[in-house]
Amino acid sequence: MRKSMLFGFLLVFLGLALPGTQGKILPRCDLVKILRQHGFEGFVGKTVADWICLVQHESSYNTKAFHDNGPSRDYGIFQINSKYWCDDGKTRGSKNACHISCSKFQDDNIEDDIKCAKKIAQEAKGLGPWYGWKNHCKGKNLSSYVKGC
Ligand SMILES: *[C@@H]1O[C@H](CO)[C@@H](O)[C@H](O)[C@H]1NC(C)=O
Repeated sequence: MRKSMLFGFLLVFLGLALPGTQGKILPRCDLVKILRQHGFEGFVGKTVADWICLVQHESSYNTKAFHDNGPSRDYGIFQINSKYWCDDGKTRGSKNACHISCSKFQDDNIEDDIKCAKKIAQEAKGLGPWYGWKNHCKGKNLSSYVKGC
């Protein structure tokens, strides 16, 4: 009885703790649906397939993705950079143009990530700021990225 209760508490604790600590891998078609709902098709002249390809190569759909580039860092599924777009408290001269803490881009709520990614694309008039897109997606046939969704 005691042991099973302890086990129960442990399960509850893990259940509460894990979503926050591990992040989640967004299923590809779930992200396709979310991006379509948020008007990404045709936005800055690009397709949802462009964005899926971008996310695949920037973060592998991991909401918790993080890369340290030395002077700055990239956060979340869109790998948003601390030099220009968000504040991580340790990037010299950060512009924080999206007026947000970078850690917000690593939680499971991607609404703020989407808002900032759109701002980045709008200011750049395209997806040029993302090397994952430039190096792996630009000018390619991307139909496979939205296939079956
Ligand atoms: C892109 O690839 C798909 C699947 O391989 C093919 O059906 C389609 O015709 C291609 N589109 C273009 C524009 O080449």
